[in-house]
Amino acid sequence: MSGTPGTELTGRRVLVTGAARGLGRSITSHLASAGARVLAVDIDEDGLAEAATGWSNLGEVHTARCDVSDEVSVNSAVDEASRALGGLDGVVNNAAIVSVTRAPAQQVPVEEFDRVFAVNVRGPWLVYRATARLLAASDCAGIVNLSSETAFSGSRNMAHYVGSKAAVIGLTRALAREAGQSDIRVNAVAPGFTDTEGARAIGDPDTYDTTGTPLGRVGVPADVVGAVAFLLSPAAAFISGQVLLVNGGRVAG
Ligand SMILES: NC(=O)c1ccc[n+]([C@@H]2O[C@H](COP(=O)([O-])OP(=O)(O)OC[C@H]3O[C@@H](n4cnc5c(N)ncnc54)[C@H](O)[C@@H]3O)[C@@H](O)[C@H]2O)c1
Repeated sequence: MSGTPGTELTGRRVLVTGAARGLGRSITSHLASAGARVLAVDIDEDGLAEAATGWSNLGEVHTARCDVSDEVSVNSAVDEASRALGGLDGVVNNAAIVSVTRAPAQQVPVEEFDRVFAVNVRGPWLVYRATARLLAASDCAGIVNLSSETAFSGSRNMAHYVGSKAAVIGLTRALAREAGQSDIRVNAVAPGFTDTEGARAIGDPDTYDTTGTPLGRVGVPADVVGAVAFLLSPAAAFISGQVLLVNGGRVAG
């Protein structure tokens, strides 16, 4: 059908946070392969350098160190997006502390709760503040925030993580209302358990109980990448403030 916007990402300038490993790394690989121009950032400089060796054959990927919980660090990464990419059409707020202490809420140190919220919630908020002006100049601007199925289902022994991922949904909906005035779409993707380095530190994908999952398996990064790419693309031009669960049907939103 001619005139229907597609999932084309060629030339789209995208900032991906937490890109050194796991989902962020796979998202960056996919976007670069699809012709997007990417600034991949992470707090882990060594991991980023190692990942960059894989990206060099795929397309245009710039890298920079960034701690998303730190305002100065975020602003400097966004300056780098201006310099290297000449602006931004998309942001993927993927960086998060995933490998949290698994313990009853009474036993989680207050410092860990605060750090998880500083990275997982303040991070996307700081990135939004720093990128909104650049995104407003784009003809198809989209932000995708990574939430989690656990924000819907709850999960034992990780209340600080689950609370932070629920906050990401609230942030997504609130920012969608503000950013819509500048034609910026803000959506969230909420994966179920997905086999990454961060997930393996808190659960074993090989023994994960999938009896409650209609599609009968745990997720792999490629499952999530497609949802993120779709929400960044012109095909999602009228979708904002939404949460897309990517979890094999385990929990409905
Ligand atoms: N893997 C899963 O099962 C799963 C499920 C639901 C949601 N998610 C979400 O998907 C996203 C990616 O998860 P993952 O499994 O790939 O995790 P991961 O731990 O494998 O990777 C997270 C990346 O974020 C980076 N990071 C951490 N703190 C940072 C900071 N302060 N500044 C910048 N970068 C920082 C890490 O260095 C790492 O490269 C997260 O937002 C997570 O909450 C994952």
